[in-house]
Amino acid sequence: MTLSERADALEKQLSDELDRFVPVRSPLYTSGDRDPRLPLEVKSDEGKYRGKLFNMGHDKRLPKMPDKPTLLDFFEYRMAPATHLLQSATHALNAGCEEKIIMACLVHDMAVSMFIRGDHGYWGAQLLEPYVDEEVSWSIRAHQVLRFYPDEKYGYKYPDLYIKFFGADYKPEPYIERAYQKIKNHKWYETARLITVNDIYSFDPNMSVSLDPFRDIVARNFRQPEEGLGWDDSPSSHMWRTINWPTRFL
Ligand SMILES: [Fe+2]
Ligand SMILES: [Fe+2]
Repeated sequence: MTLSERADALEKQLSDELDRFVPVRSPLYTSGDRDPRLPLEVKSDEGKYRGKLFNMGHDKRLPKMPDKPTLLDFFEYRMAPATHLLQSATHALNAGCEEKIIMACLVHDMAVSMFIRGDHGYWGAQLLEPYVDEEVSWSIRAHQVLRFYPDEKYGYKYPDLYIKFFGADYKPEPYIERAYQKIKNHKWYETARLITVNDIYSFDPNMSVSLDPFRDIVARNFRQPEEGLGWDDSPSSHMWRTINWPTRFL
């Protein structure tokens, strides 16, 4: 077969599979776009699904992850190019930060990049907790809060971007304020603060960033489970599985 015949055959196979196994989206995907009091997609559209099966594993539209996925596989297959994370970690590396800070910067916004935006620090910390030092996951949770509070000592100002994004009159909600009161006196405050200091959106737009400088740091600071992330029965395995298989029916 020629290259283009092979591509056509692959496309045909994909569309046959999609025809047979229907990927269904969780309410979270459409939440906000539809009235939650209306019947769910599957129930209101029974005719469309007649004679088909629901997807219970890999979604053929996504790149397939290895059988035993590593943290770096999630970078490659579920959130490439992850520019913001790589830029923040590169910034921390160039600033001579300790490894735990560089590690934290590398994964601080993983939740935004591949899972859920709202309360991304909390989701991200929960995803990572079984695999990193407690100080790292604590600081990832705390960075979400600290982003809203300046600290002159570290040269951290309230981000101009937040004024642009949320308006000049946005005030952090009471739960954020309560969390801040605890975080600011915590023994790991500096670690979380340094995430926010390195959390910048374009320190050099022309600089190319790569995962390569961080492979050894990840190997030393992330307890990669032998079974693969998602298959290791940790308290957050199910979250990694959902990111791997986001349209599994149940
Ligand atoms: Fe963040
Ligand atoms: Fe960030």
